[in-house]
Amino acid sequence: MSKKKLCPRSRSIHGPSSSKAWEFSHHLVPPMTASTTFRLKSLKRGAQGFSSFANLDAQGDEPIWIYDRLDEPTTLMLEEQLAVMESGECAVAFSTGMGAISATLMSLLGAGQKVVAHRTLYGCTDSLLTNWLPRYNIASSLINLNSDAELDRELADPDTGVVYFESLSNPMLELIDIERVARKVRQAGAKRRKPIYIVVDNTFATPWAMRPLEWGADFTIQSLTKNISGFGTEMGGAVITRRQHEPLLKLARKDFGAIIHPSSAWHILVFGISTQSMRFEQQQRTAQKIASFLEKHPKVQGVTYPGLKSHPQHKLARRLLRSPEGEFCPGTMISFRLKGGPKKCEKFVDDLAKNSYTITLAVSLGLVKTLIEVPGFMTHSGVPAERRDESQIDPSLIRLSVGIENNKDLLSDLEAALKKI
Ligand SMILES: Cc1ncc(COP(=O)(O)O)c(C=O)c1O
Repeated sequence: MSKKKLCPRSRSIHGPSSSKAWEFSHHLVPPMTASTTFRLKSLKRGAQGFSSFANLDAQGDEPIWIYDRLDEPTTLMLEEQLAVMESGECAVAFSTGMGAISATLMSLLGAGQKVVAHRTLYGCTDSLLTNWLPRYNIASSLINLNSDAELDRELADPDTGVVYFESLSNPMLELIDIERVARKVRQAGAKRRKPIYIVVDNTFATPWAMRPLEWGADFTIQSLTKNISGFGTEMGGAVITRRQHEPLLKLARKDFGAIIHPSSAWHILVFGISTQSMRFEQQQRTAQKIASFLEKHPKVQGVTYPGLKSHPQHKLARRLLRSPEGEFCPGTMISFRLKGGPKKCEKFVDDLAKNSYTITLAVSLGLVKTLIEVPGFMTHSGVPAERRDESQIDPSLIRLSVGIENNKDLLSDLEAALKKI
C-alpha cells in the first residue's frame, strides 16, 4: 500500500510496512532488542560495517549492526517513525532532548561562529548556549527573533551559523513565524559561502501540532521524554532533518555518546508513538477548557494559551499550529499569573502540591498526568535574573502541563486551591 496516502495518525499505529531494521510481516509488535554488540560473520563484513557507517554512498541493502553506540535495530525503527511524524527524511535519536540539542549545535558550529537564538528558551538550552558553547569559542546572541531589525542585524554578521528557537517557547508560549525567519535566512545565506541553519525545538508543539520542516526549518528537535513518550517512564531525544545531514549527526552521536537505550526506544516506539495523537488531542481539549476557566477567574491576572483569542499571536498560532489532518492545535501547555504576586503564587502551588489529587507539583511536561511548576524558581532558575525579567519569567509565572484526567476533576482541584488564596 502506498505510504504517502496514509495520515501520520495511522502510520504511528502500524509503523512502516517494511523496514531494514526488522521483518515486520512476522511481528505485530516489533521485538525489543538488547545486545550492546553484534556477531559478525567475517572480518570483511566487520570492516564493511565500519566503512559504511554514516556513509550515504556505501549503504547496502541491509544494515550491518556493529555496536549499539553506532546503530541499533529498535532505535532505527523509532527513527523511521519520527521522520514520518515530523515530515523529515531521517531522524537520529539520542539519550535525552539535551543530548540531541548539544550534538546538533556542536555538529553545525565551529570555533569563531555564533548561534543566534530567541531570548526565551528552556533553562538548560539557555545554559548550553551561554555557559558551555562560549568555552569552545562559539558565541551566542539571544534576541527577539520576532523583531525584523534584530534578526537582520544578526544575519548580517558573517559569523552567524545557526538560528535557534522553540516552536512554542518554554514557558511563555510565544511563536516565531518560521516562514518569515526561513525567508530571511535564505536571503542572507545566498550571499555567503557558509550556510546558516535553522534549528527548531518542537517539544512543546509536538509533531501533532507543528512540523517545522514544512515551514522551512533545517532541523527539528524533540525531547522524546515529554509528549512523544508521554507516560513519564522514558528519556530520549531526536533530531529530524534531510538525509544529507544524517551522517554528521550519527558521527556526533557515536563520539559524544548520548545514545538512547534500546529499551527506551522500544517503549517510546510501541506505547508512545502509537498513542501520541490521541493523548495530545485529549490533553488539548482539556487545556482549552482550563485556559478559559482561568481567564475568567477573578483571582487570575492573566493567562497565556495559544487557543485563547487573547493570546498576542493567536492569528499566527492558527496558521502554524495545525495537525497533519488540518485541525487547529493550540497545544497542551498553559502559563498564567495570579493577582497578588509571588506570595500568592507560592501559597496556591503549595496547596495544590499538598491537597490536589489530579495536579502534581513536578517538572517535565506532556505526560498523561497534569503537572504544575513555577519556572522562575525551578526549570528556568539558572537563567540570570535580568534575562528572566526581560522574558517575563518572573517568580509568579505558573506553568501547567495538562494531562488526560477528567477535566471536571482538574477544574475542581484548581478552584479549591484558588478559593484558599
Ligand atoms: C523545550 C524543551 N526542550 C528540551 C528539553 C530537554 O529535554 P530532556 O529533559 O529530554 O533532555 C526540555 C526539558 O524540559 C524542554 O522543555
